[in-house]
Amino acid sequence: MKKINWKISAAIVAVSAIFIQIIAQEKTVQPADANKDLLVMTNPPAEIRNMLRKSCYDCHSVQTKMPWYAGLPGVKSMINDHIESGRKHLNFSNWGSYTDKRMVSKLNQCANEIDKGGMPLKSYTAIHWGAKLNSTEKATLVAWFKAEADSVKAKMAVQ
Ligand code: HEC
Repeated sequence: MKKINWKISAAIVAVSAIFIQIIAQEKTVQPADANKDLLVMTNPPAEIRNMLRKSCYDCHSVQTKMPWYAGLPGVKSMINDHIESGRKHLNFSNWGSYTDKRMVSKLNQCANEIDKGGMPLKSYTAIHWGAKLNSTEKATLVAWFKAEADSVKAKMAVQ
């Protein structure tokens, strides 16, 4: 009898540990100066805003929305690695502190990455289906990034 109780307790502990992992997701949201955010600065149409939020903002901003399974051991560390590296390369929450030249280069890079299917990362969309972009969405986003690059370039020419 005693032995069975021990096994049941161990099972309860193991199951609880998994649930705690799922519920207690690491908080990756950090306070940011909202005025420096790409979406605040460019104020794009809702369609663009939604696409950027669902497909890029998890890794390229401080506004990370995690799927519930992001708390699972293994998945969590993989996603956190992506976020850390993604933000280092490009942080839309910090857009306002980029120079015009850097903005143009990053906007063009974004258009290229989406166009050739490099972004959002495939390893991410494989587990986070909601972040996938269909071909129409890709074309719309690419056009938007290119237009933004042109408008920053035009602004630079005036200065
Ligand atoms: C799962 C996280 C993740 C998502 C989602 C994601 N990226 Fe990335 N991104 C990265 C990582 C990590 C890098 C660093 C280089 C690499 O690993 O390819 C990167 C690099 C980039 C770069 C190159 C920047 C540089 O300076 O080298 C661009 C541009 C880019 N991403 C744009 C986007 C766009 C646009 C989206 C949305 C359509 C997006 N990314 C979605 C993780 C992500």
